Amino acid sequence: MQGNNRREQWATKIGLILALAGNAIGLGNFLRFPVQAAQNGGGAFMIPYFLAFILMGIPLMWVECAIGRMGGRYGHGHTAGMFELLWQHPLAKYLGMLGIFIPFTVALYYIYINAWTLAYGYFSLIGDYFGVTSREAMGAYLRGFQGVESNQYFSTVTTSYTFFLITLAISMYIIYHGVSGGIERLAKIAMPLLFLIGVALMIRVLTFGTPDPNYPEHNVLNGLGFVWNPQPERLPHASLWLAAAGQIFFTLSIATGAIPTYASYMREEDDVGLTGLSTASLNELAEVVLGGTIAITAAVAFFGLAETQAIAKGGAFNLGFQALPMVFQKIPLGQLFGALWFLLLFFAGITSVVALAQPVMALFQDGLGWSRWHATCGVLAALFVLSQPVIFFLKHGFLDELDFWVGSFALVLFALIETIQFAWVFGMERGWNEIVKGAAIPVPRLFFYVIKYITPLFLVFILVAWAIQDVPNKIFMVGVKPEDVPYVWAARLMMVAILVSFGFLVKIASSKREKGFQR
Ligand code: ALA
Repeated sequence: MQGNNRREQWATKIGLILALAGNAIGLGNFLRFPVQAAQNGGGAFMIPYFLAFILMGIPLMWVECAIGRMGGRYGHGHTAGMFELLWQHPLAKYLGMLGIFIPFTVALYYIYINAWTLAYGYFSLIGDYFGVTSREAMGAYLRGFQGVESNQYFSTVTTSYTFFLITLAISMYIIYHGVSGGIERLAKIAMPLLFLIGVALMIRVLTFGTPDPNYPEHNVLNGLGFVWNPQPERLPHASLWLAAAGQIFFTLSIATGAIPTYASYMREEDDVGLTGLSTASLNELAEVVLGGTIAITAAVAFFGLAETQAIAKGGAFNLGFQALPMVFQKIPLGQLFGALWFLLLFFAGITSVVALAQPVMALFQDGLGWSRWHATCGVLAALFVLSQPVIFFLKHGFLDELDFWVGSFALVLFALIETIQFAWVFGMERGWNEIVKGAAIPVPRLFFYVIKYITPLFLVFILVAWAIQDVPNKIFMVGVKPEDVPYVWAARLMMVAILVSFGFLVKIASSKREKGFQR
């Protein structure tokens, strides 16, 4: 086999790290993490969280960077092709295909949510929701905007749909400009700005003190305590471990297929050790320090624990899109701070959106030989068409169904398949050589054994616990309203159709490649 010199590459090392950080840092850091931590034992959540980070997050980041760099050497930017390098078996490409299916399907709803952040940034700037002061009213505002109900704030889904089109256009514009000309340039602007805005917002929140002297217990310290006070009695519960591991996968973009694709644009001499570690560390900095401070602390300082708990129970979005807009109405320069908060979310989201779309780009370009223009048009058309049910059937749980199977369950499954392929089929000695080759830092040998034994065992434990605890309820639609059942089936059918379509394309890509070698 030979290398393919015509593939794109990251222009600079800092660009590579910022792009990978942009890939990982997303809405998960600022919306999902604080709610997960607060709902799952506060400080106690951080014990399984950091264990999962060290035993799965960092090792898998290295594994994925190594698989990606190796794939790039042979002209593969998608995991279907990469898995063929790990295992010379006709099935390998179909296992690897999960790394194209997952990011694409997550992108179908992630883009829409990212569009909300853009819209709310605009609403903050013009003060559109200023005057909507109660939690109930702000909830109605959000539901009206999402098209879930028609009310005095929004009678149709037109506004959110318009922002969806704008967000889709922006992400496709970036993707069309390529790896270094589009994604890397975006990351070099968006990532420093994100950290700058994040630190400014964190300082603002930490200086809220006790906003209303009539409610002395509504203060910043109680807010921090809500996220961080350990509830050790929760530790033996499997749900806590699942939530912590799930968060690590989602936040690091591990096992989504997006990291190997980005790593495939590394140069041969770019190192995996330091790059992987920097990416994971930047993500944790954004998540634990900024994400763990801003949203919940602000909500508790203004509304108290009980109210914040009630808001957080309603879901990850309610905190960011309901509680914080209410806070912004109570502080000086609220419109500006509101715009900054949603701009932060938008930057976090858009750098992840392009990462989620890139594996399909790689399949089209590297696998099927399409030009960048044709690949972009293909991805745009597929994303546009298949996002429609996500938008229009939101109230029927269509998005939630995709998120459970693809955004949660499939990640753990794919991580397990990937680890076994890498450590046991390809072989840990060869795999380790790929990880340490040209490493700018010494990667501790201990991780050789972690990747070979502990990571897969941890993953099996999570998968089994999940299969027992959550999957049966999900399969049999426990708690689904009867009128939503057809929509849940439709979501499942769509996932199967996407999977089969990618299977077909991956088969074509593989035989094209074989024919190329025979010639
Ligand atoms: N890793 C991305 C996030 O945290 C997908 O949102």
